[in-house]
Amino acid sequence: MGPNYVWLNIRPLFYLLHNLATGNRKLATLVLFFIIFVASMLDKIKELTQTIEAFSIESKEQLEEFRLEYLSKKGKITSMFDGFDFKTVAPEVKKSMGQEMNKLKVLAQTKFDELQDKLSAGGDDKSAYQKIDTSLPVIPNELGGRHPISVVREQIYKVFERMGFNLSDGPEIEDDFHNFTALNFPENHPAREMQDTFFIERNPDIVLRTHTSSVQVRVMENQKPPIRTISPGRVYRNEAISARAHCMFHQIEGLYIDKNVSFADLKNTLYHFSKEMFGKDTQIRFRPSFFPFTEPSAEMDISCFICNGKGCNICKYSGWVEIGGAGMLDPNVLTNCNIDAKVYSGFAFGMGIERITMLKYQIKDLRLFTENDVRFLRQFKHAE
Ligand code: DAH
Repeated sequence: MGPNYVWLNIRPLFYLLHNLATGNRKLATLVLFFIIFVASMLDKIKELTQTIEAFSIESKEQLEEFRLEYLSKKGKITSMFDGFDFKTVAPEVKKSMGQEMNKLKVLAQTKFDELQDKLSAGGDDKSAYQKIDTSLPVIPNELGGRHPISVVREQIYKVFERMGFNLSDGPEIEDDFHNFTALNFPENHPAREMQDTFFIERNPDIVLRTHTSSVQVRVMENQKPPIRTISPGRVYRNEAISARAHCMFHQIEGLYIDKNVSFADLKNTLYHFSKEMFGKDTQIRFRPSFFPFTEPSAEMDISCFICNGKGCNICKYSGWVEIGGAGMLDPNVLTNCNIDAKVYSGFAFGMGIERITMLKYQIKDLRLFTENDVRFLRQFKHAE
């Protein structure tokens, strides 16, 4: 309750009561009129305050309307000062009432400035432009980096490129022939169940490719030997997502076909790759395995580059880590792709890019690659 409130409301009321008590009726009537007058003035101020506070505009024209209505010489506020009502009141009341009216005036001016700022911030008004402080230091535009999978994919590709391999690509949505049949997976053969497949259509089957080996088939169909190619890409398997498995991951496939290609060529190629990729002291070993499209087939391990074969938790204290599968092309596969198996032979291999990346950067959880957490991704910003 400010001093103006006392002047304008409480004192006159006492004055009225005093005059009534002393029987001064004339004065009492005058005071009553005065009270009504003050109340109506205060009401008017209150009403204007509320309207001004709630005012909002969309255009310059509306801003001008606001100025005319409240701030101009003939506007509602100025005319209150000039009005007969205000001029005739007693000096003390004039002072208090004047203060209330001034508050209103300041409010209207502040509102006007605010509305003007808002309007110019939205448009190409010069005043908004002038508020930009060009001497401030710039906020640096953070540059992104490549995804670790892309980094490693390129590292792998670069090694094979130097050995004369080119790059080939194939669709991620494959038909049964390219994903299975041409690769010597017989109909109803349990080998098909080695890989949990996402089927898009059945009979004829259309699948999300379960491996990049399907690209081998496409290359063999379209090119004549000698062939030296690698094919990186996404593959899909219907597997529960965990730290070690995902329904989508990346492989890189290798294919070499020429006359007289032997298992020694396969070993030497992968040996050279491993040394280039993981360090010159890296050793490799092949373990017999089975894949329908290669004969003989092998699983390839490299000596653990974390502990140099001594044993650590990355290699589970064996000194070796598996990086992929490989083998000599099964003659049936060559025949399926119209390449004369009596004249040509070849080898193929396939590696998981996530697996190699996890080994190289000691990443413990496969899910990190697809979660898009910048704190994880930022760490590879300068990886080459
Ligand atoms: N396609 C196999 C897989 O997804 C990997 C593989 C093994 C590819 C041997 C090959 C190969 O080309 O010769 O597990």
